[in-house]
Amino acid sequence: MRINPEDAVKLLKAGKVVAVPTETVYGLAADALSPAAVARVFEIKKRPSDNPLICHFHSRAQVKKYVRKISLFSERLMDHFSPGPVSYMLDLSEDSPLRFATCGSQQVIVRIPSHETFLEILRQFDHPVAAPSANTSGGVSPTSAAMVELDLGDQIEGVVDGGSSQVGIESSIIDARSDNEIIILRPGAVGKDEIQKFFPEIRVTEKMNNESVTPGSRYRHYAPRTPVYLIGDINELENEIKAALLLTVEQLESFPASTKLKRIKLIPLGSMKALDEVAQNFYHRLSSLDSMEIDNAFILKQHWGSSSLGKALQNRIEKIVSKR
Ligand code: TXA
Ligand code: MG
Repeated sequence: MRINPEDAVKLLKAGKVVAVPTETVYGLAADALSPAAVARVFEIKKRPSDNPLICHFHSRAQVKKYVRKISLFSERLMDHFSPGPVSYMLDLSEDSPLRFATCGSQQVIVRIPSHETFLEILRQFDHPVAAPSANTSGGVSPTSAAMVELDLGDQIEGVVDGGSSQVGIESSIIDARSDNEIIILRPGAVGKDEIQKFFPEIRVTEKMNNESVTPGSRYRHYAPRTPVYLIGDINELENEIKAALLLTVEQLESFPASTKLKRIKLIPLGSMKALDEVAQNFYHRLSSLDSMEIDNAFILKQHWGSSSLGKALQNRIEKIVSKR
């Protein structure tokens, strides 16, 4: 069911769970201060109970009420990247009511989103909102209201339709609590290049997939129900018929007309020259695999390059693919 932002605020106040648009992916939103509402998010997503939830705020002033402090570098990064697709790891204050959302952890990951509809919901509600991506645990993050409804429609009170998510992949998660190093814990649209442009003097370390820090990285992620395999060459396709191959426009153009490729569905991911569009449409294309009459899907290996979005796409693909 589609609901308007005012309804979403009322439902959040009543301890209910609703889906909301953000510029990265849609979120499954609940009052972060309500243990019951937080528990319902875990139940709906079938999320492992040790995997904490990102908390969303409308302003830095609101963040400050719940954390020990916003570290110097987090503050400086926020000057440039917040509101926006960047999340920050911070230390909770003593007895912070966010302990339920963080599964007891002393650290919280906070984000001030830039999607105007979600920001307005956050302002009206004025409680922190716990919102993991609005998909069943392990599945593809939704980037439209329709994708949320397909997966969780019958379990939630409604979805606020805010159009297609502009970025299309989850926020970068950054630990900038130290005064001499910024650590990227999950790659996203904002990465080392963007950070070093403003802070050339500080060391930026990419510790993607660090299990001890982000519990979520231990699980298979972002994957459609259709098994997806990575192949280095189209010759690895063994007489596949009910299959799809995901590849870039450049890869598609580089093939000689091959009979092998005539029998399978070809799904272009977009051009290497426009990675922002590849990211925007990535999860929608992946989830469309589940409504095709296919048994397997393949991604043709690609060097996605060293830009932040390239690294983020590479990271998501590594987590999607199954072992053959
Ligand atoms: O773009 C995004 O960040 C989206 C939108 C809705 O804001 N949210 C999102 O949430 O991607 P989720 O739950 O799908 O991914 C959050 C990741 C998980 O891997 C989780 O383990 C990690 O962040 N995480 C959250 N809180 C944490 C904490 N307190 N300590 C360590 N890791 C945490
Ligand atoms: Mg997720």
